[in-house]
Amino acid sequence: MKVQHKLLVANWKMNGSAALVATMSDTLAVNSLTGVDVVICPPLTLLHSFAAKRNFKLGAQNVSQHQAGAYTGEISAAQLLEAEVSYVIIGHSERRELYSETDELIAAKVNTAVQAGLTPILCIGETIQQRQQEKTEQVLAQQLDAVYASQPELLAKSVIAYEPIWAIGTGESASPEQAQATHAFIRAHLAQLDSIAATEIKLLYGGSVNGENCSALFAQPDINGALVGGASLKAAEFAQICSSAQE
Ligand code: PGA
Repeated sequence: MKVQHKLLVANWKMNGSAALVATMSDTLAVNSLTGVDVVICPPLTLLHSFAAKRNFKLGAQNVSQHQAGAYTGEISAAQLLEAEVSYVIIGHSERRELYSETDELIAAKVNTAVQAGLTPILCIGETIQQRQQEKTEQVLAQQLDAVYASQPELLAKSVIAYEPIWAIGTGESASPEQAQATHAFIRAHLAQLDSIAATEIKLLYGGSVNGENCSALFAQPDINGALVGGASLKAAEFAQICSSAQE
Protein backbone atom coordinates (compact mmCIF):
# COMPACT_ATOMS: atom_id res chain seq x y z
CA MET A 1 0.00 0.00 0.00
CA LYS A 2 1.18 3.53 -0.80
CA VAL A 3 2.57 5.25 2.32
CA GLN A 4 0.41 8.26 3.03
CA HIS A 5 0.57 11.04 5.53
CA LYS A 6 -2.01 10.89 8.24
CA LEU A 7 -4.78 13.47 8.09
CA LEU A 8 -5.80 15.36 11.23
CA VAL A 9 -9.04 17.32 11.05
CA ALA A 10 -10.20 19.75 13.75
CA ASN A 11 -13.97 20.10 13.98
CA TRP A 12 -14.60 23.20 16.05
CA LYS A 13 -18.39 22.84 15.70
CA MET A 14 -20.13 26.04 16.95
CA ASN A 15 -17.16 26.98 19.12
CA GLY A 16 -14.13 29.20 18.79
CA SER A 17 -13.31 32.84 18.35
CA ALA A 18 -10.73 35.07 16.69
CA ALA A 19 -8.63 34.52 19.83
CA LEU A 20 -8.62 30.74 19.27
CA VAL A 21 -7.66 31.28 15.61
CA ALA A 22 -4.61 33.24 16.77
CA THR A 23 -3.62 30.80 19.52
CA MET A 24 -4.06 27.75 17.33
CA SER A 25 -2.19 29.33 14.39
CA ASP A 26 0.71 30.36 16.64
CA THR A 27 0.88 26.98 18.37
CA LEU A 28 0.84 24.99 15.12
CA ALA A 29 3.38 27.38 13.55
CA VAL A 30 6.03 26.46 16.10
CA ASN A 31 5.41 22.75 15.53
CA SER A 32 6.86 21.11 12.44
CA LEU A 33 3.91 19.45 10.74
CA THR A 34 5.97 17.51 8.21
CA GLY A 35 4.61 14.04 7.66
CA VAL A 36 1.04 14.96 8.63
CA ASP A 37 -1.72 16.93 6.91
CA VAL A 38 -3.76 19.18 9.19
CA VAL A 39 -7.13 20.78 8.46
CA ILE A 40 -9.04 23.19 10.72
CA CYS A 41 -12.81 23.43 10.25
CA PRO A 42 -13.93 26.56 12.14
CA PRO A 43 -17.30 28.30 12.04
CA LEU A 44 -17.58 30.13 8.71
CA THR A 45 -17.26 33.62 10.16
CA LEU A 46 -13.73 32.80 11.34
CA LEU A 47 -12.39 31.62 7.97
CA HIS A 48 -11.07 35.05 7.08
CA SER A 49 -9.32 35.43 10.43
CA PHE A 50 -6.71 32.84 9.42
CA ALA A 51 -3.51 34.19 7.88
CA ALA A 52 -2.80 33.31 4.26
CA LYS A 53 0.54 31.85 5.33
CA ARG A 54 -0.08 28.86 7.62
CA ASN A 55 1.02 25.25 7.89
CA PHE A 56 -2.47 23.75 7.71
CA LYS A 57 -5.50 23.83 5.45
CA LEU A 58 -9.04 25.06 6.05
CA GLY A 59 -12.27 23.12 5.99
CA ALA A 60 -15.98 23.78 6.45
CA GLN A 61 -18.50 21.85 8.53
CA ASN A 62 -21.29 21.81 5.97
CA VAL A 63 -22.13 22.83 2.39
CA SER A 64 -25.32 23.26 0.38
CA GLN A 65 -26.19 20.69 -2.25
CA HIS A 66 -27.27 23.60 -4.48
CA GLN A 67 -25.01 25.75 -6.65
CA ALA A 68 -26.53 29.16 -5.81
CA GLY A 69 -29.86 30.87 -5.36
CA ALA A 70 -32.66 31.52 -2.88
CA TYR A 71 -31.49 29.26 -0.02
CA THR A 72 -31.44 31.52 3.04
CA GLY A 73 -28.75 30.59 5.53
CA GLU A 74 -26.89 28.21 3.23
CA ILE A 75 -23.36 28.38 1.81
CA SER A 76 -22.24 27.07 -1.58
CA ALA A 77 -19.19 25.02 -2.52
CA ALA A 78 -17.98 27.86 -4.79
CA GLN A 79 -18.18 30.32 -1.89
CA LEU A 80 -16.18 27.97 0.31
CA LEU A 81 -13.51 27.63 -2.37
CA GLU A 82 -13.31 31.40 -2.64
CA ALA A 83 -12.66 31.49 1.13
CA GLU A 84 -9.71 29.10 0.58
CA VAL A 85 -11.52 26.11 2.00
CA SER A 86 -10.36 22.77 0.61
CA TYR A 87 -12.21 20.19 2.73
CA VAL A 88 -15.81 19.95 3.91
CA ILE A 89 -17.32 17.71 6.60
CA ILE A 90 -20.54 16.15 5.31
CA GLY A 91 -23.08 14.02 7.13
CA HIS A 92 -21.82 14.56 10.68
CA SER A 93 -24.12 12.70 13.08
CA GLU A 94 -25.15 16.03 14.65
CA ARG A 95 -26.42 17.18 11.26
CA ARG A 96 -28.08 13.84 10.57
CA GLU A 97 -29.83 13.90 13.97
CA LEU A 98 -30.45 17.57 14.77
CA TYR A 99 -31.09 18.81 11.23
CA SER A 100 -32.69 15.66 9.81
CA GLU A 101 -30.13 15.25 7.04
CA THR A 102 -30.97 12.13 5.07
CA ASP A 103 -28.65 9.75 3.25
CA GLU A 104 -30.07 11.12 0.00
CA LEU A 105 -29.25 14.72 0.89
CA ILE A 106 -25.79 13.71 2.08
CA ALA A 107 -25.13 11.91 -1.22
CA ALA A 108 -26.10 15.08 -3.11
CA LYS A 109 -23.79 17.19 -0.94
CA VAL A 110 -20.83 14.84 -1.49
CA ASN A 111 -21.44 15.05 -5.22
CA THR A 112 -21.67 18.86 -5.18
CA ALA A 113 -18.48 19.15 -3.13
CA VAL A 114 -16.46 16.88 -5.42
CA GLN A 115 -17.72 18.57 -8.60
CA ALA A 116 -16.60 21.93 -7.17
CA GLY A 117 -13.15 20.64 -6.23
CA LEU A 118 -13.62 20.33 -2.47
CA THR A 119 -12.65 17.12 -0.66
CA PRO A 120 -15.66 15.79 1.26
CA ILE A 121 -15.08 14.18 4.66
CA LEU A 122 -18.08 11.87 4.85
CA CYS A 123 -19.02 10.96 8.42
CA ILE A 124 -20.63 7.62 9.21
CA GLY A 125 -21.32 5.90 12.50
CA GLU A 126 -23.68 3.78 14.56
CA THR A 127 -25.61 4.45 17.76
CA ILE A 128 -24.94 2.49 20.94
CA GLN A 129 -28.17 0.54 20.44
CA GLN A 130 -27.14 -0.44 16.92
CA ARG A 131 -23.75 -1.63 18.21
CA GLN A 132 -25.35 -3.64 21.02
CA GLN A 133 -27.71 -5.25 18.50
CA GLU A 134 -24.68 -6.10 16.33
CA LYS A 135 -25.99 -3.95 13.52
CA THR A 136 -22.87 -1.77 13.17
CA GLU A 137 -21.70 -3.23 9.86
CA GLN A 138 -25.18 -3.14 8.38
CA VAL A 139 -25.64 0.53 9.36
CA LEU A 140 -22.24 1.59 8.03
CA ALA A 141 -22.71 -0.32 4.79
CA GLN A 142 -26.02 1.43 4.25
CA GLN A 143 -24.54 4.87 4.94
CA LEU A 144 -21.68 4.19 2.52
CA ASP A 145 -23.84 2.65 -0.19
CA ALA A 146 -26.28 5.56 -0.06
CA VAL A 147 -23.47 7.82 -1.24
CA TYR A 148 -21.16 5.65 -3.31
CA ALA A 149 -23.16 2.76 -4.81
CA SER A 150 -24.60 5.00 -7.51
CA GLN A 151 -21.54 7.28 -7.79
CA PRO A 152 -18.46 5.10 -7.08
CA GLU A 153 -16.25 7.54 -8.96
CA LEU A 154 -16.53 9.92 -5.98
CA LEU A 155 -14.71 7.48 -3.73
CA ALA A 156 -11.26 8.34 -5.06
CA LYS A 157 -11.90 11.99 -4.19
CA SER A 158 -13.29 11.44 -0.68
CA VAL A 159 -12.16 11.02 2.90
CA ILE A 160 -14.32 8.96 5.26
CA ALA A 161 -14.58 9.52 9.01
CA TYR A 162 -15.88 6.67 11.15
CA GLU A 163 -17.47 8.29 14.19
CA PRO A 164 -19.39 5.95 16.51
CA ILE A 165 -22.11 8.20 17.88
CA TRP A 166 -21.65 6.79 21.39
CA ALA A 167 -18.05 8.01 21.37
CA ILE A 168 -18.67 11.59 20.24
CA GLY A 169 -18.17 14.11 23.03
CA THR A 170 -18.58 11.41 25.69
CA GLY A 171 -14.96 10.92 26.71
CA GLU A 172 -15.43 7.24 25.81
CA SER A 173 -13.42 6.57 22.68
CA ALA A 174 -13.72 3.30 20.77
CA SER A 175 -10.81 1.07 21.72
CA PRO A 176 -8.02 0.90 19.12
CA GLU A 177 -9.05 -2.71 18.40
CA GLN A 178 -12.73 -1.80 17.96
CA ALA A 179 -11.84 1.10 15.68
CA GLN A 180 -9.39 -0.99 13.65
CA ALA A 181 -11.91 -3.81 13.16
CA THR A 182 -14.54 -1.35 11.96
CA HIS A 183 -12.11 0.48 9.65
CA ALA A 184 -11.06 -2.85 8.14
CA PHE A 185 -14.73 -3.63 7.49
CA ILE A 186 -15.24 -0.20 5.86
CA ARG A 187 -12.21 -0.66 3.60
CA ALA A 188 -13.28 -4.16 2.58
CA HIS A 189 -16.81 -2.95 1.87
CA LEU A 190 -15.55 -0.07 -0.28
CA ALA A 191 -13.27 -2.46 -2.18
CA GLN A 192 -16.40 -3.96 -3.71
CA LEU A 193 -17.04 -0.60 -5.38
CA ASP A 194 -13.48 0.43 -6.30
CA SER A 195 -10.60 -1.69 -5.08
CA ILE A 196 -7.87 0.86 -5.82
CA ALA A 197 -9.72 3.77 -4.21
CA ALA A 198 -10.51 1.59 -1.20
CA THR A 199 -6.81 0.89 -0.68
CA GLU A 200 -5.85 4.56 -0.92
CA ILE A 201 -8.77 6.32 0.77
CA LYS A 202 -8.06 7.96 4.12
CA LEU A 203 -10.22 6.51 6.89
CA LEU A 204 -10.31 8.81 9.90
CA TYR A 205 -11.47 7.81 13.35
CA GLY A 206 -13.52 10.31 15.36
CA GLY A 207 -15.04 10.22 18.82
CA SER A 208 -13.28 11.44 21.98
CA VAL A 209 -9.80 11.43 20.42
CA ASN A 210 -7.39 13.16 22.80
CA GLY A 211 -3.73 13.57 23.59
CA GLU A 212 -3.72 10.36 25.59
CA ASN A 213 -5.47 7.87 23.34
CA CYS A 214 -4.33 9.14 19.92
CA SER A 215 -1.03 7.21 19.60
CA ALA A 216 -2.66 3.81 20.12
CA LEU A 217 -5.34 4.69 17.56
CA PHE A 218 -2.77 5.92 15.01
CA ALA A 219 -0.79 2.69 15.40
CA GLN A 220 -3.64 0.72 13.79
CA PRO A 221 -3.05 -0.15 10.13
CA ASP A 222 -6.43 1.05 8.82
CA ILE A 223 -6.61 4.30 10.83
CA ASN A 224 -5.24 7.07 8.62
CA GLY A 225 -5.93 9.99 10.90
CA ALA A 226 -8.59 11.51 13.11
CA LEU A 227 -11.51 13.91 13.21
CA VAL A 228 -11.14 15.71 16.52
CA GLY A 229 -13.86 17.73 18.25
CA GLY A 230 -13.40 18.79 21.86
CA ALA A 231 -9.63 18.32 21.98
CA SER A 232 -9.22 20.50 18.87
CA LEU A 233 -10.30 23.53 20.89
CA LYS A 234 -7.18 23.22 23.04
CA ALA A 235 -4.22 24.36 20.96
CA ALA A 236 -1.49 22.57 22.91
CA GLU A 237 -3.37 19.26 23.00
CA PHE A 238 -4.31 19.44 19.33
CA ALA A 239 -0.68 20.18 18.40
CA GLN A 240 0.36 17.15 20.43
CA ILE A 241 -2.18 14.96 18.60
CA CYS A 242 -0.80 16.25 15.28
CA SER A 243 2.77 15.46 16.36
CA SER A 244 1.90 11.94 17.37
CA ALA A 245 0.44 11.34 13.89
CA GLN A 246 3.70 12.23 12.16
CA GLU A 247 5.31 9.49 10.07
P1 PGA B 1 -15.24 14.73 19.95
O1 PGA B 1 -16.05 15.09 18.60
O2 PGA B 1 -13.79 14.62 19.58
O3 PGA B 1 -15.52 15.90 20.86
O4 PGA B 1 -15.79 13.45 20.45
C1 PGA B 1 -15.72 14.49 17.39
C2 PGA B 1 -16.67 14.95 16.31
O5 PGA B 1 -17.86 15.13 16.58
O6 PGA B 1 -16.28 15.12 15.14
